[in-house]
Amino acid sequence: MPIERVKTGIPGLDEVLHGGIPRRNVVLLSGGPGTGKSIFGQQYLYNGLKAGENGVLVALEEHPVQIRINMSQFGWHIREYEEQHRFAIVDAFTGGIGEAAKRERYVVRDPTDIPLLIDIVRTAVKENDAQRVVIDSVSTLYITKPSIARGVVLQLKRVLSGLGCTSILISQVSVTERGFGGPGVEHAADGIIRLDLDEAEGRLWRSMIVWKMRGTSHSMQRHPFDITDKGIIVYHDKTLRISRGVVEG
Ligand SMILES: Nc1ncnc2c1ncn2[C@@H]1O[C@H](COP(=O)(O)OP(=O)(O)OP(=O)(O)O)[C@@H](O)[C@H]1O
Ligand SMILES: [Mg+2]
Repeated sequence: MPIERVKTGIPGLDEVLHGGIPRRNVVLLSGGPGTGKSIFGQQYLYNGLKAGENGVLVALEEHPVQIRINMSQFGWHIREYEEQHRFAIVDAFTGGIGEAAKRERYVVRDPTDIPLLIDIVRTAVKENDAQRVVIDSVSTLYITKPSIARGVVLQLKRVLSGLGCTSILISQVSVTERGFGGPGVEHAADGIIRLDLDEAEGRLWRSMIVWKMRGTSHSMQRHPFDITDKGIIVYHDKTLRISRGVVEG
């Protein structure tokens, strides 16, 4: 029986994934600063809404108000979906402080309280009947306590996969780091997609690579991609090669 897949709807990416992300997978989306992780996550959720799949975005890095503004700049208007209870932002950023925060439906007052955070995420997923979840970023949950990283990711995986969600956990790595967020989380995740920025020939080049994806074959190439005013476009028929500072292909 063919496995059920979730189409990301990001142009070119489903081809790279040989059809999409296997349903219920928990995918680590890792990359350095400015590589496009947040945009990727937001585009995945918005495409889900368009395709009839509800979503939850857990915001640990940016103010929910800022996220709505950023998304609308790509034409991803989420207000009506929020009103229809088909989409929700879990505010784990403001700590409930400020006027704007008082209008949020889901607020995690203390994001270092992992059981509380997971409880609110579970409630948001259930109340909005969400099938797609993005956590931006999981690194924030264990940045001061690396020893809990694996446990946190495994707990999230158990809950999210158990609820039937196909999830993206955004993982921040430093510019020079070759890994994806540490051995614990890398092995716990069902999939790893890495976004990169490389400097060559006097400019930066964007590329992505699927490092692993349980349940499916996938492209093994490093694909160039662009961020446009409509979001991410992956060039699934191109390979980016940079050798000794020169771009080939
Ligand atoms: N409208 C746009 N058109 C083209 N590129 C854009 C546009 N808006 C943002 N970008 C690019 O996207 C980058 C930001 O992407 P994003 O916020 O997804 O990064 P990130 O990987 O989440 O970074 P961080 O780890 O710092 O949160 C900007 O640095 C810019 O290069
Ligand atoms: Mg980001």
